[in-house]
Amino acid sequence: MAAAAVILLAAGAQAQNTSFRPGQIWSDDKGVHINAHGGGILYYRNVYYWFGEHKTEGPGGNNANVGVHVYSSKDLYNWKDCGIALAVSDDPASDITKGCILERPKVIYNARTKKFVMWFHLEPKNGGYDGAMIGIAQADKVTGPYTYIRCTRSNPQTWPVNVLPLHKEPVTGRNARERSNLNWNEHPDSVNTLGRDFQKGQHSRDMTLFVDDDGKAYHICSSESNSVIHISELTDDYLDFTGKYVRAFIGDRMEAPALFKKDGLYYFMGSECTGWAPNRARSAVAPSIWGPWTQIGNPCVDRDSETTYHSQSTFFIQVAGKKNTFIYMGDRWTPDNAIDGRYIWLPVEFTPDGRFILHWYDEWSL
Ligand code: GAL
Repeated sequence: MAAAAVILLAAGAQAQNTSFRPGQIWSDDKGVHINAHGGGILYYRNVYYWFGEHKTEGPGGNNANVGVHVYSSKDLYNWKDCGIALAVSDDPASDITKGCILERPKVIYNARTKKFVMWFHLEPKNGGYDGAMIGIAQADKVTGPYTYIRCTRSNPQTWPVNVLPLHKEPVTGRNARERSNLNWNEHPDSVNTLGRDFQKGQHSRDMTLFVDDDGKAYHICSSESNSVIHISELTDDYLDFTGKYVRAFIGDRMEAPALFKKDGLYYFMGSECTGWAPNRARSAVAPSIWGPWTQIGNPCVDRDSETTYHSQSTFFIQVAGKKNTFIYMGDRWTPDNAIDGRYIWLPVEFTPDGRFILHWYDEWSL
């Protein structure tokens, strides 16, 4: 650590931060609170890039008035503002017109095409959360500019690996009507949410991307009126679905999916569905990304565990050069003044019985 500090100073860099302080103001290299909410990290050529939602002040600040912001860092503590990676459009006819909802952007690098690919949750302007779509953008340079390609529902006209005969029955009457949310006592299969959305494509709201060791990428989203998680394989260029997907946690109603892999096992974290208000997190483990997934409870163990320490998951950072070192990345939303939202990053710890847990620390370092 001392050697690293000397090197940084020799290079003339201003390394102000040497720790994480969850929930505090996190200033970038210009002294401005980092504006990258619902974010994700891409590690590329020894640099971490943090992409997230650029929020604005006051009412309406949760809508996409600017776009996706990107920052870079070599140590995860000190972040340089690299500007807007994907800008919303001034054209009212664009899918990503100013004022749309653009959430949880995630960027992955495709070694075959040498392109940076961004997927995000997209809700067309003035449609509330009924669109439940994905937006896809691509760039030649990691910090952008990203070019918007298209939006889509997930896996239109395709059945998942674990489809049941009941899903292929005609969906009629009340069940044929698309609904944002199910009633608390409704099971998604009792109203056949999967069959309901078969033609148009499945809902995709809160989402993340995960790239496995073999370079295969997956899209993980909250689907079927937020009642089921869908895990889908992406094509080799990362720009589409292959059509192979699975329903997981059927009827368990989770949002905010985030994944990491350790020693060949896949770990999942999600939240309950209470909008911007924090709630109790859930976690799960599986021997394959396709499952079977075993739920292993709320990973938070200290005071305020029932609100995930006032946060909601968005991503797990794999720390480069440190074996089995992962950081939980969560958002503390402030919907009344969205730009003030805080970042809750905590170290992932493991228990002897195979769970991962998150302790609260006011301040910590790697
Ligand atoms: C949360 C979700 C956020 C945002 C919010 C809107 O549950 O995780 O990304 O969509 O709802 O109320």
